Amino acid sequence: MTALIAGHLHEADHEAGPPLLTLEGITFRYPERPVLTGVDFHIRAGERVAVVGPNGSGKSTLLRLMVGLHRPQAGRITAFGRPRGNEQDFRDMRRRVGLLFQDSDDQLFCPTVEEDVAFGPLNLGLTPEAAVARAHATLASLGLGGLAGRVTHRLSGGEKRLVALAAVLAMEPEVLLLDEPTNGLDTATEERLTAHLEALPQAMVFVSHDNRLLARMVTRAVLLHEGRLHAATMHSHPHTHAHLHIHAPGVPADHRHGDAPRDHRRANGD
Ligand SMILES: Nc1ncnc2c1ncn2[C@@H]1O[C@H](COP(=O)(O)OP(=O)(O)OP(=O)(O)O)[C@@H](O)[C@H]1O
Ligand SMILES: [Mg+2]
Repeated sequence: MTALIAGHLHEADHEAGPPLLTLEGITFRYPERPVLTGVDFHIRAGERVAVVGPNGSGKSTLLRLMVGLHRPQAGRITAFGRPRGNEQDFRDMRRRVGLLFQDSDDQLFCPTVEEDVAFGPLNLGLTPEAAVARAHATLASLGLGGLAGRVTHRLSGGEKRLVALAAVLAMEPEVLLLDEPTNGLDTATEERLTAHLEALPQAMVFVSHDNRLLARMVTRAVLLHEGRLHAATMHSHPHTHAHLHIHAPGVPADHRHGDAPRDHRRANGD
């Protein structure tokens, strides 16, 4: 188990190259509520940065600001070496920075999965045939080929999560902003998704409460606290702890784990 602890200025920020995306002094409030009060952030090629913080601290708001879906009241955003201020700037940037929304229903709005995943590539200027081919290839790479013809709004929550990710990846963005990517996924699917992400070359920002995912994926972490981002330290240490396992019927209640060979299957797939 990994613990993420804030407070120490431990910048494991030794990646080469200029930042792909920089936020300086970003202040943002909804009409009813201040959320961010001077946020500084950057990500470079090759980095995988965790943004952690309690519910309601502003993590999803921050990701939306990064791609211009909200506009800050103060501060500057620079992406790929250019300041970004107006809609045209951000439209251009959204071709290169993909946001996986926390709520899949914000991402998926087409009748079928194929159309949803082809939508981004079509917007990038691919021909309809090429966009559909890209959609199928992306779905297949995530093991979702069988979902292409499905009606999107009838997918399960976990299926929607994966299709939403396919819709983002189909655009082949240079930076991935992933808001709770593993939310609602079963253990085996989470493992498959994590392995897929691990093999991708893009810089990534992870907003997640899933410490197992973060322990495996991220190169550094920042903590959103009272409207500001603070560098965080990450460490892991062994714990003695119990796990809940849920099994198919027929497994003796007093069985032990770790005894080879396995003589039963676990219903939760782990
Ligand atoms: N459209 C909105 N209008 C007004 N307030 C909002 C809006 N969206 C979010 N908020 C509020 O802004 C604050 C930050 O919300 P946000 O969704 O960014 O938090 P979060 O850190 O992503 O939380 P969680 O971990 O629960 O996803 C919360 O208090 C939330 O209630
Ligand atoms: Mg959120």
